[in-house]
Amino acid sequence: MLGPSPLRRLAVKVCVPAWALLAGPAYAEGGIQDSQQVQRGRALLAQYQCGACHTIPGVPAARGEFAQTLRGWGQRSYIAGRLPNRPELLARWIAEPQALVPGTAMPSMGVSASDAQAMAAYLFTLR
Ligand code: HEC
Repeated sequence: MLGPSPLRRLAVKVCVPAWALLAGPAYAEGGIQDSQQVQRGRALLAQYQCGACHTIPGVPAARGEFAQTLRGWGQRSYIAGRLPNRPELLARWIAEPQALVPGTAMPSMGVSASDAQAMAAYLFTLR
């Protein structure tokens, strides 16, 4: 069996630490922005009263039982049973559910794209 070539091993040794060094501070910053986004999302979920219909762990008063619980959202495979559960699709769903699934019982609530992205970020933290 042939192992990785010496050149490739050298490239990995030299490039990976350099890359990590460059990427490190950017990642750290992204982490802080992410957690602000997550906190903002949680506040928005309360503000838009999504909890009138949904139970949402960590969001005060969100104990609605009209629609599915959003408990464990980060582990879900589908949105509304048919759309792949990815953050950008979830944000679109929150902003305009009727556009994605015509006739759905989830109302379009006039949520802006950026508010929807923050709410999606929070929901993806739920395990
Ligand atoms: C009037 C009740 C109502 C409100 C308010 C409401 N939803 Fe929904 N929501 C629904 C219903 C009903 C569904 C199921 C839709 C379907 O399956 O077609 C749903 C589905 C969802 C889903 C997919 C659930 C799953 O198990 O796949 C998410 C995520 C969601 N809503 C998020 C939100 C967010 C975020 C808000 C606040 C901006 C919100 N909802 C406000 C009724 C509501």
